[in-house]
Amino acid sequence: MNLPQRLLAPAPGWIVDTDVVVVGSGVAGLTTALRIAGAGLPGSVPTGLRVMVVTKDVLAAGSTRWAQGGIAAALGPDDTPQEHLRDTLVAGVGLCDRAAVQVLVDEGPAAVRELVELGTRFDRSSTGELSLTREGGHHRDRIAHAGGDATGAEIERALVSAVLASPGIEVIEHALVLDLLPTASGGVGAVTLHVMGEGELDGVGAVRAKAVVLATGGIGQVYASTTNPPVSTGDGVAAALRAGAVVRDLEFVQFHPTVLWLGDSASGQQPLVSEAVRGEGAFLVDDAGVRFMQGQHELADLAPRDVVAKAILRRMRETGTQHVWLDAREFGTEKWRVRFPTILTTLLSVGIDPVSQLIPVAPACHYASGGIATDLAGRTTVQGLYACGEAACTGVHGANRLASNSLLEGLVFGRRIASDILASIQPGAPLPELGVDVRGMGIASSGIRQQLQQQMSADVGVLRDAAGLARASSVLQKLSARLSRDPRTESWEATNLLTVASALVAAAARRQETRGAHWREDFGERDDERWLGHLDLRLSRDGMVATDYIPGDQSGSPTVAEVAHR
Ligand code: SIN
Repeated sequence: MNLPQRLLAPAPGWIVDTDVVVVGSGVAGLTTALRIAGAGLPGSVPTGLRVMVVTKDVLAAGSTRWAQGGIAAALGPDDTPQEHLRDTLVAGVGLCDRAAVQVLVDEGPAAVRELVELGTRFDRSSTGELSLTREGGHHRDRIAHAGGDATGAEIERALVSAVLASPGIEVIEHALVLDLLPTASGGVGAVTLHVMGEGELDGVGAVRAKAVVLATGGIGQVYASTTNPPVSTGDGVAAALRAGAVVRDLEFVQFHPTVLWLGDSASGQQPLVSEAVRGEGAFLVDDAGVRFMQGQHELADLAPRDVVAKAILRRMRETGTQHVWLDAREFGTEKWRVRFPTILTTLLSVGIDPVSQLIPVAPACHYASGGIATDLAGRTTVQGLYACGEAACTGVHGANRLASNSLLEGLVFGRRIASDILASIQPGAPLPELGVDVRGMGIASSGIRQQLQQQMSADVGVLRDAAGLARASSVLQKLSARLSRDPRTESWEATNLLTVASALVAAAARRQETRGAHWREDFGERDDERWLGHLDLRLSRDGMVATDYIPGDQSGSPTVAEVAHR
């Protein structure tokens, strides 16, 4: 299939210059921006680098603010980074990059303390210690939370207010990233944007910079039903592919086991019922009231996410139902009100009182464990281009992200990207010379979005097989022929969804095994002999997706001694 290669007429309407442009305003983007500018923390010293944050909606609209459960780090007295590492490696089913996980768990506690210094108000015990809870796959209480179940919203509030108070950071809202423009030496030297603003920076223009950081969040809108907000259309991942960057392990899309089931016709963003609800003692039952997670895994209802999602799907098939139930009646009114106020409000708004009623839940698309491939400094395979947060594949998640490791990843690797940029870019240095962009152009019709999402949910969801993947590929191919003459946000988003979905299907078809979040019905077993490695995806100049298998090693699996040590 020939995917569109460039989303813009060759001459942008306006061009502005900065030192570093950060695309995206969740925890990853804002942490990176604050660190590069030298702002936010008590005693911060401005670095002199100009930072421009561009974001598709308003600053606080991305996925971060929807995060409920919390942020994982070895903060408790009985916990250690090594134990956090073991749980992360086990969840990642052999495909984590051990060095990346080591960075995450070692630097995580300090990064969370820094968030506290920045003004984030985490929940605390009566003695003033951080309250820590547990989620699937964790053997210790290590999830810090805020506002009960409003952790992401509180972190985002603190970061946004720090950014708005920082003179070194300029913000452009309602700016959709279109593409990355090359430098004369083959790196990336500018982003093109479509700004729906008023005044000078309106319409299509470009920001030139010495470094570009993509922190554009997830790809959840490739599916009909997802916990991701409507802005999660994979814009950064698609732009990176078009710019020649490697995208890794995109087949590992995590389906959250307990998304509130609102009927079979519900679509778009669906409400999450945090894993922390099970962490505090709730459990799953089927229609007959049977606790089906017992006996399936040593952690039962708190098994890693892929294990629980698969068990729910199996039980739904066996019982011919469209959802299972979560029983959290034992919490009583007070615990629901204090510990899970956001979820309680949502449940009551749809007529469910969780103190007396069971909660209908089913898996839905939640998180892309893969993304733009980076090294430990957040550098992609293209010079001058960095990636961070859900848009990136740093190697910490492997085949299945451990719960609440994502906010932490954004924090830790955002700090690392900033360090790398501060070490390599001087405030007064000239901007790189831009090269000539010779790629072909094209843009998909906005009308393809719904069909694309339904096809992806039908054939590339939790359960996959060769026939379904071939069907999805052929539908995507047909959709890629439906081009638009009307370049507006919806068409650009549809183009990005098409690019990301095509790459995801190519990887899912190539990986003939079942591992983590990738479940092939026709290859039901994990196959370390053939598949203990990564799938790297590239978009060729003629718009074709190529997959390369990169053999891995055993280092992403916990050793026998590590597992036994628990
Ligand atoms: C949840 O609260 O269950 C989601 C946490 C996560 O995705 O890490």
